Amino acid sequence: MDEVTFKSDTVLSDVHLLLPNSSHLMKRLNGVGQPVFISKFRILQNCDEKDSSVGSPIHEHEREGADVSDVPRDEDGDLDVVRRPRNGTCHRDAVCPVILSQSATTLSDQDEDSEEGDGTSDIIRIEHTMATPLEDVGKQIWRGAFLLADFILSQVNLFKGATVLELGAGTGLTSIVTAMAAKTVYCTDVGVDLLSMCQRNVNLNKQHFEPQESEIRVRQLDWLADDFCTDPDSEFCWTEAEIADLHDNTAFVIAADVCYDDDLTDGLFRTLYRITSNLRCPSITYLSLEKRLNFTLRHMDVSCEAYDHFRHCLDQLEQMTDGKNTFTVEAVKSSFPQFFQYERVEQLELWKVTAERL
Ligand SMILES: C[S@@+](CC[C@H](N)C(=O)[O-])C[C@H]1O[C@@H](n2cnc3c(N)ncnc32)[C@H](O)[C@@H]1O
Repeated sequence: MDEVTFKSDTVLSDVHLLLPNSSHLMKRLNGVGQPVFISKFRILQNCDEKDSSVGSPIHEHEREGADVSDVPRDEDGDLDVVRRPRNGTCHRDAVCPVILSQSATTLSDQDEDSEEGDGTSDIIRIEHTMATPLEDVGKQIWRGAFLLADFILSQVNLFKGATVLELGAGTGLTSIVTAMAAKTVYCTDVGVDLLSMCQRNVNLNKQHFEPQESEIRVRQLDWLADDFCTDPDSEFCWTEAEIADLHDNTAFVIAADVCYDDDLTDGLFRTLYRITSNLRCPSITYLSLEKRLNFTLRHMDVSCEAYDHFRHCLDQLEQMTDGKNTFTVEAVKSSFPQFFQYERVEQLELWKVTAERL
């Protein structure tokens, strides 16, 4: 399959947009006929390693408008602005993923499961698909996953030794990064197909967290269900001991790019409330998301309804008076360093929710 077929509900993450010819990187077809790829992402230790156009840490002040007094002017005094070429040629360098090698196309699932990490301490290998229908978006990697991973890598001491719950983990990239610092990461999502892919990614990257005896447990956690799945027939079910451990020890909940559908966002916030208010200790939740702007005929303007709904849910959580918990919401400035190469656009945001017992 050389070409990715776009259907009306097909979405493609910007992370995968600049991949070269997909057929070179395709590994196999998954159970539902989607091409599967393995990409390698380097964790940059030194900001100098990054392409200056996209990779260097973006600080808040750099996002504000440039000082026009520095911009050259023509003879009439008009600003002489250098414009992007209109011929479709992208003059920015391709930003990510950083493809370091190509995978063989003939590996079977079993081969992949038994594949060892390549021993390189700064490379994360992620199996993913591209251009999925909406219900399969978790099989792609989204920029919010990198933003959250950057934040965690910039706050390693904060997460050191912690128990962390990730909601809507998708391919598992952020959980893998988190486990480099945390002791236990419950990496959760829905769907056996997706969770199996996530588990394969965890297996592919064990060298990043096993030496320090950290662990990642891939488990099913559906925001539209009322409770944890404990059905032993389900491959990614929870044991009673795990549920107890989660409640006794979780200090952080994380979620990347999980607010794109209002019903799911409602379910996510219900789950967040239910779990954090049952934790033994106060907890901090970090939510990253990308504000996706669309022109709508209804508004006759650019709007971002999914983002507005997310902000509404945050407000509701903060104003909640259940007599047992308080929730405090803060925006986190994304001025922390970038450890992955991706375009940290200003629409990427990180939010912090602190849950405390009254
Ligand atoms: C846009 S993807 C983000 C994946 C990953 N966090 C990332 O940023 O690359 C949204 C994720 O939410 C998950 N999700 C959607 N509905 C869910 C539900 N009802 N319960 C749990 N997870 C759900 C999807 O499976 C998917 O993995």
